[in-house]
Amino acid sequence: MLKGKRAGVLLVAAAVGLWFLAAGISMAELKSPADFTFEQGKTSPGKVTFSHGKHMVNDIKCTACHFRVFKMKKGSADTSGEAMHNNTACGLCHDGKKSFSVSDENDCATCHRK
Ligand code: HEC
Ligand code: HEC
Ligand code: HEC
Repeated sequence: MLKGKRAGVLLVAAAVGLWFLAAGISMAELKSPADFTFEQGKTSPGKVTFSHGKHMVNDIKCTACHFRVFKMKKGSADTSGEAMHNNTACGLCHDGKKSFSVSDENDCATCHRK
């Protein structure tokens, strides 16, 4: 009885291990999605397009944003008002230190395009 249970636990552990291996391979092959545009708020100075490609620089890894900052699903983030400027979203890096700032008048148009 106990023996059977133990074998079962081992089998489950092996299956989980295989699953991680498979997931690891598919993560490595996972391409970043195409550019997309956020829903534009009423007072927004222009549409903001997010490019994964332009973020795959300076050793930025997927985990810099996923899942700490953003879900891996378009339209999940709170884009109401200036929520995206906060350090819980784009403002985490666009703070004038890690990258250009959301509060620099010269850089509004780097994100907000007419
Ligand atoms: C600089 C931040 C950032 C990095 C780094 C990043 N992503 Fe994303 N990703 C986002 C944002 C923002 C969204 C959209 C989330 C939302 O709308 O709530 C997103 C969405 C996604 C989606 C969902 C697309 C869809 O159509 O729903 C996938 C898949 C994804 N990312 C994969 C990746 C992979 C793979 C990497 C690494 C190669 C990566 N991301 C790196 C910010 C990032
Ligand atoms: C790093 C990218 C980025 C920068 C830089 C940036 N923004 Fe934004 N901002 C966003 C995103 C993303 C949204 C949400 C989408 C939208 O409303 O267009 C947003 C939303 C806004 C909104 C709220 C719109 C609404 O009615 O809900 C205003 C106002 C705004 N930004 C003004 C500015 C101004 C002014 C600057 C420059 C001082 C600036 N932004 C710089 C990304 C940025
Ligand atoms: C993990 C940090 C990080 C986060 C989070 C992040 N960015 Fe960036 N972003 C960068 C870095 C680094 C660059 C490269 C430019 C640089 O070196 O300053 C960049 C570049 C950009 C560019 C300029 C592309 C070009 O050269 O024209 C835009 C636009 C941009 N980000 C928008 C956004 C928006 C919108 C969000 C939120 C949805 C966001 N970023 C979130 C780090 C980040």
